[in-house]
Amino acid sequence: MQTAAVADFRTYPKICDLAEAQLLDDQIRVRWADGRVSPFHHQWLRDNCPCAACVYSVTREQVLEIVDVDEHLSAIDARIDQGFLSVAWSGGHRSQYDPGWLRAHAYDDESRAERRAAKPQSRLWDHTLSLPVFDYAAVMEAPDALLQWLLALRDTGLTQIRGVPTEPGALALIAHRISFIRESNFGVLFNVQSKADADSNAYTAFNLPLHSDLPTRELQPGLQFLHCLMNDANGGESIFVDGFAIANTLRTEDPEAFDALCEIPVEFRNKDRHSDYRRLAPIIALDALGDVAEIRMANFLRGPFDAPVEQMPLLYRAYRRFIAMTREARFRLVRRLNPGELWCFDNRRTLHARNAFDPASGARHFQGCYIDRDELLSRILVLQR
Ligand code: OGA
Ligand code: ZN
Ligand code: ZN
Repeated sequence: MQTAAVADFRTYPKICDLAEAQLLDDQIRVRWADGRVSPFHHQWLRDNCPCAACVYSVTREQVLEIVDVDEHLSAIDARIDQGFLSVAWSGGHRSQYDPGWLRAHAYDDESRAERRAAKPQSRLWDHTLSLPVFDYAAVMEAPDALLQWLLALRDTGLTQIRGVPTEPGALALIAHRISFIRESNFGVLFNVQSKADADSNAYTAFNLPLHSDLPTRELQPGLQFLHCLMNDANGGESIFVDGFAIANTLRTEDPEAFDALCEIPVEFRNKDRHSDYRRLAPIIALDALGDVAEIRMANFLRGPFDAPVEQMPLLYRAYRRFIAMTREARFRLVRRLNPGELWCFDNRRTLHARNAFDPASGARHFQGCYIDRDELLSRILVLQR
């Protein structure tokens, strides 16, 4: 069987045979065996030629730049040849397109709608969530268990792992199953313990209201790990809410407040004796399709609001409403983390909190670290190859 190169390390299964290729002035209209018609403009096809002169076979990255090809180039022949779309260009170049690749990248309305519908959707949750729990040994050894955990992280945004060794540093081993750790001024791994010289409210015994970590950075870490080594103190339960579920509820219940949190930037600040991080950004960020993509929130890291005079009352109303929702029982999942268990959650979606604890009643020691969301998504795609 003939195999045409594709500019990727993935393979694209053939979903449907190519039935016919019709050569038009500026495009080739492909008809598939299931009747779908996909137009491909000459420029688009020439731009995506996968031949060894256009794509370096080692990196599978393009070396051709379409601006180096005549803007008015035209195909002089288009045919189906042994299942592939075969095109001859004026000027002599020839291209062959794999039908699986072509179908996966077709941009007729139906194909694009199909791709949008296949986009992974966040599964929104409330206090009734049946928590996705995974086993340390399985995730460390079995690629399929690893993939199931990562998909839960991507789609639910909150997971727990049990059976983790209670040695300091053990969480780095599991984090490395995904990728490298994102270091911050709190270290590669940070120790969450009540300390006299705390450089964050996190390192006290105070309650911490629902928040995301490092909202003070241009890019908030995508994943956060919290590993329990010791938890003998009274109090200190973990609390989580699905920030996307709250934002979407706000969007229907109070669209004016929702819009204010999407549009009015708020400054977050994290300062100590050696560093001073500041970030001005709205609390809710939307993606290119208008879906809620990120929540940025930590009351204890917030600077004074700086908004136009006429917007200040609205900003306070919206902010209070959002925080009030994070306190509603319907959204809150409350669980105590035991030694040998760890939380791993989407820090840009799932807000986390802890109740105050009494350090006189026993020791409490968690370790944490961060990984960016890109690493999670890349690991998932590679495991799925
Ligand atoms: C933190 C934090 C939670 C806890 O360190 O940012 O949220 O349970 N800690 O101590
Ligand atoms: Zn080529
Ligand atoms: Zn935190």
